[in-house]
Amino acid sequence: METPELLELAQTRLLATYRPQGIVLARGRGAELFDVEGRRYLDFCAGVAVCCLGHGHPELTRTIGEQAVRLMQVSNYFYNEENILLADELCRATGFDRAFFCNSGAEANEAVLKLARRHFHQLGQTERVRLICFERAFHGRTMATVTMGGTEAYRVGFGPPLAGIVHVPYGDLEAVRAQMGSDVAAIHVEPVQGEGGVLPAPTGFLAGLRQLADEHGALLTMDEVQTGIGRTGTMLAAEQFGVRADAVALAKGLGGGFPIGAMLVRETLADSLPTGTHGSTFGGNPLASAAARTVLRVVHEEGLMQRARARGNRLQAGLADVAARHPKLCRGERGLGLLRALVLQENVQARDLLGPARERGLLITAAGATALRFTPPLIVSEAEVDEAVAKLDETLTAVGTAIEG
Ligand SMILES: Cc1ncc(COP(=O)(O)O)c(C=O)c1O
Repeated sequence: METPELLELAQTRLLATYRPQGIVLARGRGAELFDVEGRRYLDFCAGVAVCCLGHGHPELTRTIGEQAVRLMQVSNYFYNEENILLADELCRATGFDRAFFCNSGAEANEAVLKLARRHFHQLGQTERVRLICFERAFHGRTMATVTMGGTEAYRVGFGPPLAGIVHVPYGDLEAVRAQMGSDVAAIHVEPVQGEGGVLPAPTGFLAGLRQLADEHGALLTMDEVQTGIGRTGTMLAAEQFGVRADAVALAKGLGGGFPIGAMLVRETLADSLPTGTHGSTFGGNPLASAAARTVLRVVHEEGLMQRARARGNRLQAGLADVAARHPKLCRGERGLGLLRALVLQENVQARDLLGPARERGLLITAAGATALRFTPPLIVSEAEVDEAVAKLDETLTAVGTAIEG
């Protein structure tokens, strides 16, 4: 089918929860995508920081094909080898001790919330149920995770939110301190707020949270769904801040495009979710586990964390240059590794630039109202980074001319 017919069908058959751009993507290779008409795009979205190995990576596609033939799903009534080995490899790669597997970032965050509360319940501290979360945070779209998230609009109309969750400004240690008490189970934080606008934690913030959690006997838990698996240049972004969480939520890059989520915990929390207290039918299935094992291996073998740092620096320099060339539209850039944003002036809406960039063959996303987000695959080449920056520059020149005209 051709694009107009497909778009018409989509409009009648899909719930309108999203506002997708008016192209229909058909195939990809590396950091390139092609639509059903064969037009080429540079993919600086990568499934929103998911396709870390790019599209059609031979090792990942081979693993998925072979594992699909061998065994896809057995349920958690039985062990499967791929999942046991993934748990071991993921713990070794991150320094955590135990894993719980699920299928998405929201599910991983929800597991963290349940773990934190149940941990203290196990210890007889049943009053410790409160969770301290952050304004502009994003943790997913289930009822619990929209309550944990900092965007009020995502909660409107869905009835009473989960009780016991408070939000304080990101980066404000004093605001966190003011909320601490014997009823706090956990502080839950993204080391770089992704959807909130690509905001790296200010210096000393995560270390300060660690200290506050320790002083008050609470847990420090992290959401590395967007930042994890090398995206920011290290396996977990928290490493760059010198801070260790008690539990972390992962998803996105872990499967390189195949759906999988995980919660990793320290050994001290090994008994916090006893048998029967939590579960997921598809969690840890052999197919997703095999995909994630290959992702971890390729990230190491191809040096993708170093590459995320090097390409991230190049992208940062390019974005800074573009921002300087278009001061009427841009305020600057920010980010870490290959999670980057061009920050726009208050009167410029990021989502208004997505179409003009796409028309020039560049796919990017908005993060918050005024940040254009760049999350290319970690395998992106220098030439592709330069090409994306050139297309961005063209886009801003055209948009700037249109505004002035
Ligand atoms: C930091 C963070 N946490 C959680 C989620 C939710 O993940 P999922 O959409 O897989 O449920 C996202 C998705 O963008 C995210 O960026």
